[in-house]
Amino acid sequence: MEQPKDRVDVDALGGVEGIHRWVARFYDKVAGEPVLAPMFTDLERARDKQQAYFVEFFGGPKLYSAQYGKPFLRYLHRQFKIGVPERDAWMKLVVEALRDQTDDERLIAEVQRRLGDMADKMINHHSEKRDAYYFNA
Ligand code: HEM
Repeated sequence: MEQPKDRVDVDALGGVEGIHRWVARFYDKVAGEPVLAPMFTDLERARDKQQAYFVEFFGGPKLYSAQYGKPFLRYLHRQFKIGVPERDAWMKLVVEALRDQTDDERLIAEVQRRLGDMADKMINHHSEKRDAYYFNA
């Protein structure tokens, strides 16, 4: 009997092609999002890197590491002011873009959980919180 799939991987996301389409649509949305758009200087370059990263993140070939080295993501995001609004905007669009190509709610929920954990780690700014961990402006 076929077991329900509860692991998200590159195949479940439509292969490398599917991930590329997903990320491309995400960046189309970012371009029109008032909180996120001004943070990006080069959307095409960011999109290419994000595509490579997501393939690797979801267990596919290590495309990002091969081209750019080990992804120290929190370090790479330090120059951007990322608080809860930025995280929420990012998560909303990444899930919307995935929903454009699948209605598999299990898959969407698992992706949301995995990327949500990562997105929480990117937060480096809390308006109401000041401690040594967060760099406040
Ligand atoms: C939480 C909200 C987030 C915001 C606001 C954000 C914003 C950004 C920005 C502004 C850039 C730089 C683009 C440029 O160089 O012009 C970037 C790069 C990138 N982001 Fe995020 N990001 C977020 C979360 C994430 C998450 C959760 C991941 C991965 C799961 C991720 C993966 C990446 C990658 C791989 C790059 C390219 C890094 C590089 O090699 O330069 N980001 N992001």
